[in-house]
Amino acid sequence: MERQLWLDRGFDLQLRYSKDRINAEIARLAAEISSDFQGQSLLIVVVLKGAFFFAADLVRELKVPVELDYVTLSSYAGTSTTGTVAIEKDLAADIAGRHVLVLEDIVDTGLTLTRLMDLLQQRGPESLNICTLIDKKERRQAEVEPKYVGIACEGGFLVGYGLDLDEQMRELSNIYEVRQTPGGVE
Ligand code: XMP
Ligand code: MG
Repeated sequence: MERQLWLDRGFDLQLRYSKDRINAEIARLAAEISSDFQGQSLLIVVVLKGAFFFAADLVRELKVPVELDYVTLSSYAGTSTTGTVAIEKDLAADIAGRHVLVLEDIVDTGLTLTRLMDLLQQRGPESLNICTLIDKKERRQAEVEPKYVGIACEGGFLVGYGLDLDEQMRELSNIYEVRQTPGGVE
């Protein structure tokens, strides 16, 4: 059982969103996006590494043709922001004149995506929108408004389904809130 594995290593995982819930939200998002972009094709920008699982599941539910590209940004160390956003790996595709949909795992303060959206907007896309699996809207510091939101959530540090704690726990099927247990070892 995936929870037990991490409990044994000193982390208490509380189930927040089951894979069934995630699947249902993805089906809803896919229907909405497919309807909005009927007759068009989409350039999907996957924000690595976290949105990798979400993207894999979402694009296979879409009813419009897609092209996939990837960007890697960094802003977080551990569970708190460092305040600096760097583009580690840029897109390969030319997005000028394309309908671009950015896929993110979580929008939190919004600082990471603001930087990316500014950069992409300068490249002249036909449209530019964000789809995030999880939106921690209450923590927003920058003006970023995802057009498509899977799950609105209040807080807590989440892991699983692509979300990590220092590169660990991405592979978990469900999404959990993580707490380190007293006396636990890393
Ligand atoms: P900002 O604050 O710039 O951050 O919107 C977005 C990025 O921060 C990471 N993030 C999390 N990662 N569990 C995670 O595993 C969380 O609860 C969490 N909150 C923010 C995430 O990588 C996202 O891209
Ligand atoms: Mg991310």
